[in-house]
Amino acid sequence: MHRLHINGEIREVDADPETPLLWVLRDRLGLTGAKYGCGVGFCGACTSIVDGQAFRPCQHTVESMAEQDVLTIEGVEDHPVQRAWLDEDVAQCGYCQPGQIMATIALLAKHPDPTDEDIDEALRDNICRCGTYPRIRKAIRNAVE
Ligand code: FES
Repeated sequence: MHRLHINGEIREVDADPETPLLWVLRDRLGLTGAKYGCGVGFCGACTSIVDGQAFRPCQHTVESMAEQDVLTIEGVEDHPVQRAWLDEDVAQCGYCQPGQIMATIALLAKHPDPTDEDIDEALRDNICRCGTYPRIRKAIRNAVE
């Protein structure tokens, strides 16, 4: 049995220790906001936050997550970044957007007024196949105003 700290709650899950956290979030806990894109840490669709840092749950086993505070998009409510995303109508298909939003929340926690380079660095590996990058950048600018 694994004791996980997810969105401020303790969740107990019985799973093979090597199971990636993303599988546990989505299939066991019903937290489907973190998306499965590549499963190999490449696309950023699963981006969540651990201890304030952007984090890819497809790359970490459930066993390695004991005592770590995991924040998924389900644990974020009415955040300025979410409001900016809606105001800019960022999403097209929407699949990657929870990961983009979580990466942005982690970025702004570290850099409240990020430079273009900070944004590029933080979101470089969050892929959007609809190409919403200009709206994402505009939404980030709006969120910090
Ligand atoms: Fe985790 Fe692609 S599913 S980075």
